[in-house]
Amino acid sequence: MNDRLLRASGIDVRFGGVHALRDVAVSVGAGEICGLIGPNGAGKTTLFDVLSGMRRPDAGAITYDGRDITGRSSVWRARRGIRRTFQRRQLFGELTVADNLVVAQEWRGGAGSAVRRRRRERAAAVLHTCGLETLAGSYAGGLPVGQARMVELARALVDPPRVLLLDEPVSGMTAQECGVLAAVVRGAAREGCGVLVVEHDVSFVMGLCSRVVVLDRGGVLAEGTAAEVRADLAVREAYLGAGPAGV
Ligand SMILES: Nc1ncnc2c1ncn2[C@@H]1O[C@H](COP(=O)(O)OP(=O)(O)OP(=O)(O)O)[C@@H](O)[C@H]1O
Ligand SMILES: [Mg+2]
Repeated sequence: MNDRLLRASGIDVRFGGVHALRDVAVSVGAGEICGLIGPNGAGKTTLFDVLSGMRRPDAGAITYDGRDITGRSSVWRARRGIRRTFQRRQLFGELTVADNLVVAQEWRGGAGSAVRRRRRERAAAVLHTCGLETLAGSYAGGLPVGQARMVELARALVDPPRVLLLDEPVSGMTAQECGVLAAVVRGAAREGCGVLVVEHDVSFVMGLCSRVVVLDRGGVLAEGTAAEVRADLAVREAYLGAGPAGV
C-alpha cells in the first residue's frame, strides 16, 4: 500500500556541466507538511520544476496516487491538483486580487451568471481565510511583496489542491504575515492537502513541517523529523551553521 500522494525517486537533472539534481527521492503524503531546505543552488527550485511537470528529468520517476506521471505535462498535473507557487512573483498585475483568484478557476470551463457568482464567492472565501478581504479590489501589481505572496498562496488554494508546492512563500513577509501563512497552510493540510515548502527561514520550516528534507549540491543530505534534522551534525556543518539564524 502506497500512502505517499506524490513521490519522486531517482531524479537526475543536468544543465550542461551542472549536475543540479542527483538521484533525489522525495515524497509527500496526504495531509503532510514537508519542508525542503538547503543552500542557494542546492536544486530546490529545480526539484519543484520536475515535480510540477515544468522540467522533464534526465532520469527518475514521479508517481501520483501510485501512478506514473513522469511524462505528464504541467497542465495535466495542475488540473489534477498538483499546484505550485513560484520563487519570483507570478501574479497578473493588471488584474485585481479577486480577479486573480477567479481566473485561476476558469480552466474548468462553464459560463453563465451562476458559475461566475460561485467563483466570486469561492474567491472571497479564500481571500477571507488568508486575511486579504480588504484587498479584493486592489490591483495585484501594486501590492507590497508580502501581500503579493499571500495572494499567490490564495490563488493556489482557490481551486482546492491535493498537492501544494510552495517556493519560498514567506520571503518578504512580516512576522505577522508569516503567522497567517502558516495557519492557512496548516488548514489546507488538515483538509488532506500534501504540502512541500521550500524556505530559507529554517526556524519557520522547523515550526511548520513535520518532516524536513535537506538538499545540498543536488543530493539529499539528510531527512527526518525537524528534531532529527536539527540534531544531524552533517546538516549543521553543511547548511544550518552557515545559514540563517534560528536553529
Ligand atoms: N535553467 C537553468 N540553466 C542552467 N542552470 C540552471 C538552470 N536552473 C538552475 N540551474 C542551476 O542548477 C542549480 C540548482 O538551481 P536551483 O535554482 O534549483 O537551486 P535552489 O536550491 O532553488 O537555489 P535558491 O535557494 O537560490 O533558490 C544551480 O547551480 C543553478 O545555477
Ligand atoms: Mg530556488
